[in-house]
Amino acid sequence: MKKTILSFMFIFTLLVMAACGQSNKDGATGEKASSKKVLTMATSADFAPFESREPSGKIIGFDIDLANAIADELGYKLEIKDMKFDGLIGALQAKRVDMVISGMSATEKRKKNVDFSTAYNHSGEMFVTKKDSDIKTIDDLKGKTVAVQLGTIQEEGAKALQKKVDFTLKPLDNATNLIQELLSNRIQVAYLDKSVATGYIKQQGLAGFDDPTSSSPGMAVAFPKGSDLVDDVDNALKKLEENGKLQELKDKWLKDQQ
Ligand code: ARG
Repeated sequence: MKKTILSFMFIFTLLVMAACGQSNKDGATGEKASSKKVLTMATSADFAPFESREPSGKIIGFDIDLANAIADELGYKLEIKDMKFDGLIGALQAKRVDMVISGMSATEKRKKNVDFSTAYNHSGEMFVTKKDSDIKTIDDLKGKTVAVQLGTIQEEGAKALQKKVDFTLKPLDNATNLIQELLSNRIQVAYLDKSVATGYIKQQGLAGFDDPTSSSPGMAVAFPKGSDLVDDVDNALKKLEENGKLQELKDKWLKDQQ
C-alpha cells in the first residue's frame, strides 16, 4: 500500500512538473513573443550608419533602431532580411517582405512601383576621392572612373551627368565596395549618399565635395503598392517624432553627419 501511494505521489509530481514546464514555455512573456505578428523588413546592410553588419554578423544602424521602434509602436515582432539594394523594390513587388528601410530615397520613379511613408531623414550626395586627389569639381571627373551602387539614385544621377562630362561609370552591387575600390585605386571617385560619405571621409582620411546638381528626396519606408501598413507606419513615425525618439536616434547615429 505504502508503495502504491509513493508511486502515485511520484507520478503526481511528474505531472505537476510537466505542467509547470508547459506554462513556462507558453506563459506570460513567452506567449506574448510567440503570438506577436511578424513584420518582415528588408534592407541592404552595406550602408553605415544606416545599416551595416558588425563583425559578429549582427545588423545594426539608424534604420534598424527605427524599424524596431516602429515595430514596437505597432505591436509587431521585427524580422530582418539582408539583400542587395537593387533587389529591394522587386522583393516588395513580389510581396516577399512587408517593408523596406534601407536609406531609400522616395523618388517619383520608385513611387510607380512601391508606396512610401513620410520621409524620416534628408541627406544629399557627395563625390568622395582620395585625400591627395586633384578632383575638386564635377568638371574634373572627365576621363576618370566613378563608382556608384547599383540601383541607387546615385547611379541614375551619374548616368545623367555623363551626358555633360565624359567619365567611366562603374556600378557595384555593394556600397561598402565603393570605398574599397577607392582605397585600392581601382576607381578615382565614389559617388554616394552624403551622410554615408562623411563617415568614410572621417574614418578613412578621404576627401570629397558636395554634388551641387542634385536635390534628392528624403529617405522613407517603402511598402508593396496598396499596403495597409503605410498609414500605420506614418502614424508610428509621427508619434516617434513627437515623443523625441526620432531625434534621439539621429543624435545616436547621425551626429557626425549633420
Ligand atoms: N539613398 C540612395 C537611394 O535611395 C542610396 C540608398 C542605398 N542604401 C543602402 N542600404 N545601400 O538610392
